[in-house]
Amino acid sequence: MARCAVAQSGDTAETDIFTAIKSDHDTHRALLDRIEDTSGDSQDRRDAWEDFYTHVKSHAAAEEETFYSRMIEKTWGQDMARHSVHEHQELDDLLEDLNQTDMSEGA
Ligand SMILES: [Fe+2]
Repeated sequence: MARCAVAQSGDTAETDIFTAIKSDHDTHRALLDRIEDTSGDSQDRRDAWEDFYTHVKSHAAAEEETFYSRMIEKTWGQDMARHSVHEHQELDDLLEDLNQTDMSEGA
C-alpha cells in the first residue's frame, strides 16, 4: 500500500494540500468499493479491509499533522479544526470496532 497523498504532500512543494486530501478521499471511496465487492471471511476481504484501514489511519494522522495543526493556529480555523479532530476520533473508534468485527458479518 502506497503512502497517503497528504503524507507525501509534505515531501514536495508540488502537491498542494487540498489536492492531496481530495486524492486520498477518492482512494478511500475506491477502497470501500473494493470491500463491497468481497463477501464472507475471504482473503480478498481481509486484504481490502487492511488496505482501507491502514490508508485511512495514515491519512487521518497526516491530515491532523499537516492541515488541522495549521488551521488551529488561526482564530478563524479553530472551531473547524476542533470539529474535524473530533470527527477523526469518532472515525478512529468506528475503525477499531470494525477491526474487531467478524469478517463474515454482513452489516
Ligand atoms: Fe480526510
